[in-house]
Amino acid sequence: MFSDVKKVIFPAAGLGTRFLPATKASPKEMLPIVDKPMIQYGVEEALSCDISEFLIITGKHKHSIEDHFDYAFELEDKLKKSGKDKLLEEINRLNHINLAYIRQGYALGLGHAILCAKPFVKDEPVAVILSDDIIPPEETLLLDMIRLYRRLKSPILALERVPKKEVSRYGVISGVKESENVYRINGLVEKPAPEKAPSSLAIIGRYILTPDIFDVLEKAKPGKGGEIQLTDAINELLQKRPVYGFLFTGKRYDAGDKLGYLKATVDFALKNRELSGAFGEYLLETAVKLKNNIHKRV
Ligand code: G1P
Repeated sequence: MFSDVKKVIFPAAGLGTRFLPATKASPKEMLPIVDKPMIQYGVEEALSCDISEFLIITGKHKHSIEDHFDYAFELEDKLKKSGKDKLLEEINRLNHINLAYIRQGYALGLGHAILCAKPFVKDEPVAVILSDDIIPPEETLLLDMIRLYRRLKSPILALERVPKKEVSRYGVISGVKESENVYRINGLVEKPAPEKAPSSLAIIGRYILTPDIFDVLEKAKPGKGGEIQLTDAINELLQKRPVYGFLFTGKRYDAGDKLGYLKATVDFALKNRELSGAFGEYLLETAVKLKNNIHKRV
């Protein structure tokens, strides 16, 4: 029987080494982009697609994620007493969602994190959101993927065309273009060297998976970096069923990388009603200073 995509997994047990020392004792997923932690953008994106069951795969030092999506009585009391009703509403806005947590004891890779979600997924399709790939709310990537899933009833991976020199940061596919933005995938490689990459179509952090991925993940051997790779498991799955890629051409921030994180921060701040004016002026002043300095140097 066909069921719609109502569940989502957020793998969040990684060590966040690219942001050390900030992530030594606190999760990368809780780093703020302006005034919301990274993971909240992903949760809001899933909510906007009518997804109703959420799972976060956590690990050590991740308690603050659970606290973030829960009531905070002391804080509420203080906000109530000082009449900050809007803020009170804002901090409790997402507490109603049906959120479960599963701990991944060892950070053995993305494939292993997904395998931990098996009891939650059961026999339904599931979306996966890697929360450090931030898609701004005006984009409809996940919704478009869900619509495509309804039509094809097969796993769908979000793809982006990246510069050849950057392919080694991603899982990369080879495939045949079936229609506008849709590829039928015939091979996947995790983080290939640019000269060995089958294309420049990179997997970005949105997936729709079907429960048959678990049979493959259960037998998976460590791949790149000694980790159980989701990319390898999907490559294996290709022997049993079709898998499709959806080419995204909209805006995405790789906020798992310091430069991408800063770009997301700047762009979201410029869209923030309270900040955009003063922050925009500051950016312009800074740009002028930068330009003058560059001129002085040459
Ligand atoms: C993971 C996946 C990779 C994918 C990427 C997208 O890598 O393993 O295939 O392209 O996410 O962000 P990570 O960024 O966790 O190293």
